[in-house]
Amino acid sequence: MAHNDLEAFLSERRHFAPSDDFVAQANAQADIYDVAGRDPRSWWAQQARRLTWDVEPTQDLVWTPPFATWFEDGRLNASVNCVDRHVAAGHGDRVAFHWVGEPEGDTLSITYRDLLVRVSQAAHALSELGVRAGDRVAIYMPMIPEAVTAMLACARLGAAHSVIFGGFASDAIADRVQDAECTFVITADGGYRRGSASGLKVHVDAALERCPGVRGVLVVRRTGQEVSWTEGRDHWWHEVVDRQPHEHTPESFPAEQPLFLMYTSGTTARPKGILHTTAGYLTHAATTHFYVFDVKPETDVCWTSADIGWITGHSYIVYGPLANGVTQVIYEGTPDAGGKDRWWRIVEEYKVTILYTAPTAIRTFMKWGAEFPAAHDLSSLRLLGSVGEPINPEAWMWYREFIGGNRCPIVDTWWQTETGGIMVTPLPGVTTTKPGAAMRPFPGISVDVVDNDGASVGNGEGGYLTLTQPWPGMTRGIWGDPERFAETYWSRFPGVYFAGDGAKRDEDGDLWLLGRVDDVMNISGHRLSTTEVEHALVGHDGVAEAAVVGASDDTTGQAIVAFVTLTVAAAESGASHAEIIEDLRAHVATVISPIAKPRQIVITPDLPKTRSGKIMRRLLRDVAEHRALGDVTTLTDPSIVSVIDGLMGQHAADDE
Ligand code: WTA
Repeated sequence: MAHNDLEAFLSERRHFAPSDDFVAQANAQADIYDVAGRDPRSWWAQQARRLTWDVEPTQDLVWTPPFATWFEDGRLNASVNCVDRHVAAGHGDRVAFHWVGEPEGDTLSITYRDLLVRVSQAAHALSELGVRAGDRVAIYMPMIPEAVTAMLACARLGAAHSVIFGGFASDAIADRVQDAECTFVITADGGYRRGSASGLKVHVDAALERCPGVRGVLVVRRTGQEVSWTEGRDHWWHEVVDRQPHEHTPESFPAEQPLFLMYTSGTTARPKGILHTTAGYLTHAATTHFYVFDVKPETDVCWTSADIGWITGHSYIVYGPLANGVTQVIYEGTPDAGGKDRWWRIVEEYKVTILYTAPTAIRTFMKWGAEFPAAHDLSSLRLLGSVGEPINPEAWMWYREFIGGNRCPIVDTWWQTETGGIMVTPLPGVTTTKPGAAMRPFPGISVDVVDNDGASVGNGEGGYLTLTQPWPGMTRGIWGDPERFAETYWSRFPGVYFAGDGAKRDEDGDLWLLGRVDDVMNISGHRLSTTEVEHALVGHDGVAEAAVVGASDDTTGQAIVAFVTLTVAAAESGASHAEIIEDLRAHVATVISPIAKPRQIVITPDLPKTRSGKIMRRLLRDVAEHRALGDVTTLTDPSIVSVIDGLMGQHAADDE
């Protein structure tokens, strides 16, 4: 069956109602939408009581569009909410993390009591090294326990962390450290990835040549590889942290104390520092984690497979699950390190009950074959989640059958770095799901799908996804650039938040996410802007002009296809096109990250432009996706599109 037929078939016919067992024990009750919908602000204020406050708030929302505060007169400490209070409540022996390193047998289970000692010691160490409330601290680390400890230690001191994904190259690190004016960096010598040790500190060292504001660097020894050392600036974690006292008295901070920055790609070349503050974010993360994943802290073992360097890791590895006091699995490496069944061995060994991953991973497992999960006992699983990209019905069905044993509800959760937590999702035990649909706004969240003029579309129609009321986890803005915040999110449809995604309401009014409608690409769930990659390509000596599009890809959702014209010098240099293309791909990896390497680069004599000189990316996307070409009559040189189309076949490069 062709993909579109399958989609139509599934969406019409397959519905999965919650099982009676699930309904009987679910955290969410059938009336939750009504209760929350009647008075969302009070409902959220009630949810904020899940947190432990030093001073209870009397306020809920203060809304000065487009800026919101929540619970503003309350005071609390985020790390106390994630750690101390569980120990105080008698759950100190509960495992917080079963950590699984990439090398086989390299494992560690950390209880909440252990975590409290680690966070307390790290907080003392950071204080000793001069970190203060209100500072920004960059964290560039592999998926090791110290990454979580470092985040919580910053939170404990009221310093905002800015975690930079470990796959970013030194220029990308430097841009982020400079933009946030970080004064301190926490990193590791290196990490394990794809079966071998790779360097991390080396990239920090290179980045910091451009960041004179950084006074100190704390380095975890993970791999034992050689690193260069700057005396006075660099400190080993084990030398400074391990000798600190085990107890640390936490301070209390205002509800709106900045908790973290998370840099993410928008439609321009410069990534934006998305700011999240403490109480509203924590309320949103904990509440969604509780209802969407139906967690029972005494018995569940949650595994969110995201990297801590992205928002999913922040909200559903660190803040949501730890605020709820659950047990989790964290795995350091790639899914096929030690065999294509590595994940399923982990599920079996730790009896994982709730698995949250991305469609790209599911499609990769589909490609590898059902025999790998089938070889393991996955009967502990009781709930599955998906995030990061639209999930195609085929992948949804495969996930349900081969991972969930046709037993586990699936929650397809739509949200963004900017939203802080889940916004559109089914609720297990309540929602009858449809393969590929994210279904409904979370209780207390208001969503609309609108047409070009901002008018709501009817059932059965598509449009733009907007969020019409402020919510607790909403970003408090772009670091250092309030105008850009208003302009980026609140100007397309005045008064409402425009997410940048397309969506459809089906005949029943349920929501289907259709992917980005702007110049943001989604590569394996990683957000990248076309402009960012174009910028990197044009930064290469040999490139005169570049246009980048996200083309659909069976595994990664989208893949990067770049069209470049060469400078005369490069064209006449004698290098073959294949050599130039390899050089360009390596260049992009060095400037941004290996995840930004184009799948394909097409060297073309010219780019299709309108008479006003604008590059027609729409046509290039048609070419890249092998579609019939749209209207070319407005181009200065309509023939160039067929020239490019012809070149497409010639320079196919395999993605790594
Ligand atoms: C996309 C990741 C469809 C979407 C949490 C959004 C999704 C962007 C889904 C945010 C989903 C995320 N269905 N698309 N369930 N979840 N997206 O900031 O395009 O890394 O705008 O946050 O991912 O990516 P971000």
